[in-house]
Amino acid sequence: MSTTRRRFLRTLGGSGSLLFGLPALADQATVQTLLSKVKVSSVDKVRIGLIGAGIIGHYDTETALKVPGVELVAVCDLYQGRLDRAKEKWGNQLFTTRNYKELLARKDIDAVLVCVCDHWHDHISIDALNAGKHVYCEKPMVHHVDEGLAVVAAQKASGKTLQVGSQSASSVLFLEAQKYLKQGIIGPLAYAEAYTDRNSANGAWQYTIPSDASPKTIDWDMFLGDAPKVPFDPVRFFRWRNYKAYGTGVAGDLFVHNFTGLHTVTGSLGPKQVYAVGALNYWKDGRDAYDIVTGLMQYPATDQHNAFQFFTRVNLADGAGGGSGTRFIGTEGVIEVKGNSIVIKHFKRPVAPSIGGYDSLESFPKAMQQSLLDDYNAKYSADDRKMKMGDEIVFESPKGYDARLDHMINFFESVRTGKPALEDAAFGLRAAAPALLCNVSSDLKRAVDWDPVAMKLV
Ligand SMILES: NC(=O)c1ccc[n+]([C@@H]2O[C@H](COP(=O)([O-])OP(=O)(O)OC[C@H]3O[C@@H](n4cnc5c(N)ncnc54)[C@H](O)[C@@H]3O)[C@@H](O)[C@H]2O)c1
Repeated sequence: MSTTRRRFLRTLGGSGSLLFGLPALADQATVQTLLSKVKVSSVDKVRIGLIGAGIIGHYDTETALKVPGVELVAVCDLYQGRLDRAKEKWGNQLFTTRNYKELLARKDIDAVLVCVCDHWHDHISIDALNAGKHVYCEKPMVHHVDEGLAVVAAQKASGKTLQVGSQSASSVLFLEAQKYLKQGIIGPLAYAEAYTDRNSANGAWQYTIPSDASPKTIDWDMFLGDAPKVPFDPVRFFRWRNYKAYGTGVAGDLFVHNFTGLHTVTGSLGPKQVYAVGALNYWKDGRDAYDIVTGLMQYPATDQHNAFQFFTRVNLADGAGGGSGTRFIGTEGVIEVKGNSIVIKHFKRPVAPSIGGYDSLESFPKAMQQSLLDDYNAKYSADDRKMKMGDEIVFESPKGYDARLDHMINFFESVRTGKPALEDAAFGLRAAAPALLCNVSSDLKRAVDWDPVAMKLV
């Protein structure tokens, strides 16, 4: 099999191997970055506020500030050290507060980045939309499935943009995989699988805790929000992901990326049945969240795709060294998205059935064997008997490619033009729900039925 190697820049096209007379995709001559397409005039300035200035708050803000015309006005966080750090990094002119409602009340803010713990996502997103702000809310959109429809309704009622921050929806890799799947190059999808395995303490969310953490430097009551009241605990505050009261575990936190990629590529709305097994194998540091979960789902046939299965796994103590990847397996090939590339292998089965080799032929009397072989040879040409291998196609994203930047560009494009967000609240709920239902299924030790169209438990 020969290999066709292509390098994407950010605007895609790409024809790939057209061995089997499949329709050509757009030509890949125009390779520009999405960034270079952003057109901004002075009236298009978008002023943002950051709510939740922790780890991803920094990544998201720095990425947003790379988009022309975006300006940071205010930062809200519950830990004083993070407000101090925000001023240190982005300037003393910043308005800072521990109360997000003060930030939302400001007239000079058009959009907010909601980068707080999962149990605050729905409350802050809804309050922000009701206050007339556009919202970029980190994934998973909600902490529990039954909170989702209220966010969908708030977005609709507000007329503002809400984009959920699972950046695979804007990734060139997944968008290219989408084109190939639609083109039918791997035949009908039989199953897909995605895994995210990790092997370090940081990967298992044992993040560094500052030495000045105390009820004075942290607004503990606000952090707890709708979670059960417990005494101040800096471990819970800085490593909240490990506790079900604030986080969504490995399934909510990481499967959601896998579902976003899967739904982007297939156009699917979600599975109808979710089954998962979760366990706490290794990181027994007081957490109540699982550190390994495997999910298995049945996706129903829709106008977009045939019925298929999806398997997904996260293991936070992976002795094989960790890694992540997604494979879409059709009846005639596979599309693998891994690291900064996608690899497509495909073939066409022979027209002729097989005969001989590991077969029943040898068990028949000689005369019968000869008669069957004579019939076969008369019926099928040499070409009919060949498995036709397509060229292996490899796409690589450009060095330093960042799907988060494309996702942010898509968000601000929607804010500026009113175009629908790529990953709106309904998409966000449909990606979050099966991930969260993996927790429910693990806890209940049984399958859970889901209606992906109505976005409701059955
Ligand atoms: N898209 C991605 O690739 C990606 C990557 C990492 C994290 N995330 C998501 O981002 C979110 C934040 O994760 P993180 O790792 O940055 O956590 P973090 O603990 O580092 O930061 C969260 C911050 O939110 C603040 N906060 C919590 N409740 C608040 C409230 N009511 N008002 C104001 N501030 C509040 C906390 O003070 C904390 O500083 C999570 O939902 C996570 O799933 C997304």
